[in-house]
Amino acid sequence: METAEQSATGPVFSVKGLWKVFGPKAEKVPGNKEYQGLSASELRARTGCTAAVRDVSFDVHKGEVFVVMGLSGSGKSTLVRCLTRLIEPTSGSLVMDGEDVRAMDGNRLRELRRHRAAMVFQHFGLLPHRSVLDNIAYGLEIQGVGKLERRARAAQMVEKVGLDGLGERRPRQLSGGQQQRVGLARALAVDPEVLLFDEPFSALDPLIRRDMQEEVIRLHREEGRTMVFITHDLSEALRLGDRIALMRDGEIVQLGTPEEIVAHPADDYVRDFVRDVPREQVISVRRAMRPAVGGEAASGPVLAPGALVSEAIETVVREGGPARVMDGDELLGVVGVEQLLAVVAGLDEEAPAPDGPSRAGSPRARTGGGRE
Ligand SMILES: Nc1ncnc2c1ncn2[C@@H]1O[C@H](COP(=O)(O)OP(=O)(O)OP(=O)(O)O)[C@@H](O)[C@H]1O
Ligand SMILES: [Mg+2]
Repeated sequence: METAEQSATGPVFSVKGLWKVFGPKAEKVPGNKEYQGLSASELRARTGCTAAVRDVSFDVHKGEVFVVMGLSGSGKSTLVRCLTRLIEPTSGSLVMDGEDVRAMDGNRLRELRRHRAAMVFQHFGLLPHRSVLDNIAYGLEIQGVGKLERRARAAQMVEKVGLDGLGERRPRQLSGGQQQRVGLARALAVDPEVLLFDEPFSALDPLIRRDMQEEVIRLHREEGRTMVFITHDLSEALRLGDRIALMRDGEIVQLGTPEEIVAHPADDYVRDFVRDVPREQVISVRRAMRPAVGGEAASGPVLAPGALVSEAIETVVREGGPARVMDGDELLGVVGVEQLLAVVAGLDEEAPAPDGPSRAGSPRARTGGGRE
């Protein structure tokens, strides 16, 4: 199809100015100047409406894991359900592979949900009286795929998610982690272009959760499938996300790579979220280095710009001196003990733009963190 060809390198989802308002006369809220500056509770008091998604814009690129994070009630589930119109947006534009999702008729929409985007839910949503195999084949059954083919495809998926030998069991005969593997396999079975996860692992205990995260990372590495992943768990977001959108009260307050968000939180809400992150395990030497002076350019160990500060610490301690940050043959800078420790201590946040308040020479302690 021509549109698919044209958009081969374009975003999977392109969302602009999207709103979802619940409540009476919801359609009057988006774009209304009177309500613009109001907080969620003020808006509720004035209008009786909840703006669950509030003027949100972003693209999801092909092949990325796009994480949506935020506190409970910040609008994550509503936003992701809007993508396939499981929840009908109130206003804004929503495009998938170049096609206007808001203009789709019922048939086209069904097609989208059955073939192009599959959802994995927190509570698995398995059919209790069906075997694992039949649960996994369910999406294919809805698509009208013949019995033999769907059994064969389901059997492949059983293997792919590590449930070998359990295909004939019923869901209640499985552990929570195993049930979620069935949920994952069912979504994968329809071979969707994009997988949407709504806090799929939050009901699992930490070790199994870790296992499932590894599973998602492995699948992503092997298949490069586009994923939108909701979580309110920061370490999960950092582990899985290529980019993270942080939501508060229906708005995206920051969108960036894990490193960007940890290195430069946009405001105190985000700063609070990332306060306990081991910064040296997220921030790379590219952000920590300083210019080389004297003979430093000529000798010393070499690190790639993407090397993590934690690796650099090891190198610098072992070699007993600063390391050179090199991109191929080009020297970008050096990192020594001082720069690396500044990252660990959280004293490395870049100074704000020139017209902002100056804090040159006196690095500020992060709010409530870092220095005692
Ligand atoms: N059907 C509805 N009618 C009215 N308000 C709703 C409805 N669905 C959600 N909301 C409200 O919209 C806001 C966002 O809800 P949403 O479920 O998207 O949050 P969330 O970030 O997914 O939270 P959680 O982490 O608890 O799942 C909340 O204030 C919620 O009460
Ligand atoms: Mg939710």
